[in-house]
Amino acid sequence: MTNFKRTTVTSALPYANGPVHIGHLAGVYIPADIYVRYLRLKGEEVLFIGGSDEHGVPITIKAKKEGVTPQDIVDRYHGIIKKSFEEFGITFDIYSRTTSKTHHQVASDFFKKLYDKGEFIEQSSEQYYDEEAKQFLADRYITGTCPHCKNEHAYGDQCEACGTSLSPLDLIQPKSAISGNTPVLKETKHWYLPLDKHEAWLRKWILEEHKEWKPNVYGQCKSWLDMGLQPRAVSRDLDWGISVPVAGAEGKVLYVWFDAPIGYISNTKELLPDSWEKWWKDPETRLLHFIGKDNIVFHCIVFPAMLKAEGSYILPENVPANEFLNLEGDKISTSRNWAVWLHEYLHDFPGKQDILRYVLTANAPETKDNDFTWKDFQARNNNELVAVFGNFVNRTLVLTQKYFEGKVPARGELNDYDNQTLSEFADVKREVEKLLDIFRFRDAQKEAMNLARIGNKYLADTEPWKLAKTDMQRVATIMNISLQITANLAIAFEPFLPFSAAKLRGFINRPNFNWSELGSIDLLPAGHQTNTPELLFEKIEDDVIEAQVQKLLATKKANDMENQSTNPIRENIVFDDFTKLDIRVGTVLTCEKVPKADKLLVFKIDDGLGGRTIVSGIAQHYKPEDLIGKQVCFIANLAPRMLKGIASQGMILSAEDADGRLVVVSPSSQVKAGSEVK
Ligand code: MF3
Ligand code: ZN
Repeated sequence: MTNFKRTTVTSALPYANGPVHIGHLAGVYIPADIYVRYLRLKGEEVLFIGGSDEHGVPITIKAKKEGVTPQDIVDRYHGIIKKSFEEFGITFDIYSRTTSKTHHQVASDFFKKLYDKGEFIEQSSEQYYDEEAKQFLADRYITGTCPHCKNEHAYGDQCEACGTSLSPLDLIQPKSAISGNTPVLKETKHWYLPLDKHEAWLRKWILEEHKEWKPNVYGQCKSWLDMGLQPRAVSRDLDWGISVPVAGAEGKVLYVWFDAPIGYISNTKELLPDSWEKWWKDPETRLLHFIGKDNIVFHCIVFPAMLKAEGSYILPENVPANEFLNLEGDKISTSRNWAVWLHEYLHDFPGKQDILRYVLTANAPETKDNDFTWKDFQARNNNELVAVFGNFVNRTLVLTQKYFEGKVPARGELNDYDNQTLSEFADVKREVEKLLDIFRFRDAQKEAMNLARIGNKYLADTEPWKLAKTDMQRVATIMNISLQITANLAIAFEPFLPFSAAKLRGFINRPNFNWSELGSIDLLPAGHQTNTPELLFEKIEDDVIEAQVQKLLATKKANDMENQSTNPIRENIVFDDFTKLDIRVGTVLTCEKVPKADKLLVFKIDDGLGGRTIVSGIAQHYKPEDLIGKQVCFIANLAPRMLKGIASQGMILSAEDADGRLVVVSPSSQVKAGSEVK
């Protein structure tokens, strides 16, 4: 095994088309940050690279929907995302963006180098083109009928009704999402990275030389490799992105998944214009990519193939990808607003970043998908952070104030129980390190919490408050040991709960620690002055949790209602179309069942114009007598229609409620019969 001199840590560049949520934090940024903080505490040379991924089709779709430019979209979300990360203490050395000048240059040069080396193949194929918009259509820009489930609103890459992934050519009756027209097939040329040519070395490199990768990562790579790799297009017909830097490529940009990972390199170069290369090209540098599971193929197969094709770069040493975090049992979804957004959390729980960091690490989806629930959030805060960690620290510091005016007392001779307690945490450093070194952050944090449990138990068992009257020498020993454990907690939790660890260091009056000090029982010398403590953590009450649960329930309700409305919004009409409709309010004079028609009621309506007859299909929802005297809205200029032998002169408006019942639409207060609805 190589002895590495330094570590380059990257974390997936989030798309700047929405804010970030707890799933991002749990899967990628907290683990990366824990790891980086740990290396820094050990005094290792490390660089932590982040940034926003600002290209790609979804950003252009969002911009179009809002009637703004893609640049407006990415400017907005880059700012929000960057701020959220700062507030949660994610300590990037740089957080830049793929629209930066440096990145455009680096990505463009990277493509050019591969192009000049003959590492691409050029290929033409037929793709859908919108003749009115004069542009090729990205898969997401094409809708049509799903060949599997006949959903009429499937996308060119996927049918969201049945979940099947599609290609645009699979769609029945394809339509351009831009103009609504039927697109035509047109030939277009693209550049492809021939992954098939890289398959042999990738197999050896991953499957033989990196058996230590996490099973979920290794397994996914193996299945990709076993299916056989295909050439991958690295360019797109799109007007948002980095232009393909070769002649005859007008209107083409680099595929977002080609340029985005190069963003790691660009951002390093932006930070360290003169020394960036040692972080990317020196074989003594260890490269690590922290990502979520949907990014595995790009970081384990595609990007390494790009780096290898370029020729001067190192390859990742490990790619500790996580699975997904669900929210209250359902998949987190931006479009369904099923998420806990970081900026909203901070609004509702100001200053409580560490609680979320703690809970997300305790539930990190390291080996399988995991679930975040507000109940668990509350329980972990109240039963672990408050009742164990906070309680121990608080009792220790308060008793030290009370008996020794805050000065660390000298310890006397240790008894067996003291020795047993000390031996229980002698190993904590090795244990935590062992787990962090293999990216098992949940268990590592559990180990740190175990230290607080040991302390808590020690105080509960030795009961210094009872000894204070009789044996101050013994109390001094107990408090000394408790204070040493407290100092150890400040070190052990520094990577996980940086805000609380800093607070704790303030309480014990030690501005900083070194990781190597972890496990020592001489961190605070006798006579050292501690400060008056505040509470490290506060209990979270039921009503606070209930409010969050209600917020999610409201989202769920809104989503359910949206799903129930089987009628999608119809195409836009112009104002003149609207004014063609004559909608009026009338009063029901008589209402009877239509014989031999179980759905129909026949109405006599006072329409302010002398009265009219209307037949309406709501017999299953109303008793006729209940409608007499009621005001209803009706369309007054609908051409008359014969229904069961009766001439119906208009149509009564009704709406469907959640149970599928039709409810007549009526004005909220009495109006004159014949009033126009406008
Ligand atoms: N934007 C991608 C996502 O959110 C991740 C890009 S990672 C990078 O899934 F390597 F491309 F930068
Ligand atoms: Zn379908």
